[in-house]
Amino acid sequence: MRKYKPIRMSATIFSNDSRVIFDDQAYVELNNLLANHRYSKLFLLVDQNTHQYCLRVFLGKLDKVHEFEIIEIPAGEAHKQIETCTQVWSAISELGGDRKSLLINLGGGVVTDLGGFVAATYMRGIEFINIPTSLLSMVDASVGGKTGVDLGALKNQVGVFTEPLMVLIDIEYLNSLPANELRSGLAEMLKHGLIRDKIYWDRLSEMDKLEPSALQELIYRSVEIKNQVIKEDPKESGLRKILNFGHTLGHAIESYFLEQPDKTTLLHGEAIAIGMVMESYLSVKLTGFPEETLEQIKAVFANYYPYQEISSKELDSIIELMRFDKKNNSGKVNFALLQDIAKPIWDINADNELINKALEYYKK
Ligand SMILES: NC(=O)c1ccc[n+]([C@@H]2O[C@H](COP(=O)([O-])OP(=O)(O)OC[C@H]3O[C@@H](n4cnc5c(N)ncnc54)[C@H](O)[C@@H]3O)[C@@H](O)[C@H]2O)c1
Repeated sequence: MRKYKPIRMSATIFSNDSRVIFDDQAYVELNNLLANHRYSKLFLLVDQNTHQYCLRVFLGKLDKVHEFEIIEIPAGEAHKQIETCTQVWSAISELGGDRKSLLINLGGGVVTDLGGFVAATYMRGIEFINIPTSLLSMVDASVGGKTGVDLGALKNQVGVFTEPLMVLIDIEYLNSLPANELRSGLAEMLKHGLIRDKIYWDRLSEMDKLEPSALQELIYRSVEIKNQVIKEDPKESGLRKILNFGHTLGHAIESYFLEQPDKTTLLHGEAIAIGMVMESYLSVKLTGFPEETLEQIKAVFANYYPYQEISSKELDSIIELMRFDKKNNSGKVNFALLQDIAKPIWDINADNELINKALEYYKK
């Protein structure tokens, strides 16, 4: 295995109006904020798993006992819905939350997306802090200011751009994260390599084990890459679209699996892994992406993610779902593709016949 130069880390990455702070420094800042705060109430949003596994870790890092009102939601994407927001808004309201309250979201992407949206809309906006506890939420959902919920099976259909006061990243939370969830987060990291940094992609693809303790500087690099992209294009009018690589198909596949009772629910990373293989195929056909690199990408993803059976009839429904994707307009499906690793290109149309061929390639 090749030796890679260590990634240069500092404690904080500045991201639009918010800051992503790592490890001990993050708790120093949080402790200072809580010590000096003038919040009327402190709310802590968890799901049932982060309540069980992460809350104790979090409270143990605080140097003073604070009175938190803990609000728990059920775990999982199926609960990232407006009904859950209603319950959280009501709980905050009944517990006396006002405009001077603070909400801390301790959880994976579901908790940070939903909690961010609840905070942005409760009394027209209260301050909030994200403490991502899954790998996916650390490397992806933690930066960029996107919050929101699904509308039925339609992913992230309702939401707002809003920035947390700070994002606190501590890999200790990953110790209790199930292995398949860890792999799900890795998919976004692999995407960051593919769209922006070939050395990072090589490093991730050559990793022999996925262990939380080995991930610290890699998480940092992913946050850095995502942050560079969103800083240049915060509202997704151009460059930011490269973050959707693998997601146009991936989101539709995720939604389709979510609404089929006979299908297992696919994790976000598992769905976008399929999306990335298929969209790499589209890249070969539409943008001159090298065929041998496509084979390498397919092999790397096959190594981490179980094969999922998708029939061509099911693909018709998936293509139908892509029409609802927010990134599409005038009924056309737009893809962010690659001309090579770290050479993305966006707003590329693919017809249904080619998408079918991409599925055939995935299945081969
Ligand atoms: N806002 C954004 O920019 C952005 C980016 C990417 C993904 N997302 C969203 O993030 C969501 C996916 O995030 P996710 O994969 O974190 O999902 P998730 O929040 O459902 O977490 C996955 C599972 O892991 C559990 N979990 C989380 N941390 C844990 C820990 N430390 N120990 C034990 N269990 C733990 C959760 O309870 C859940 O069961 C999707 O809804 C996706 O749309 C948002």
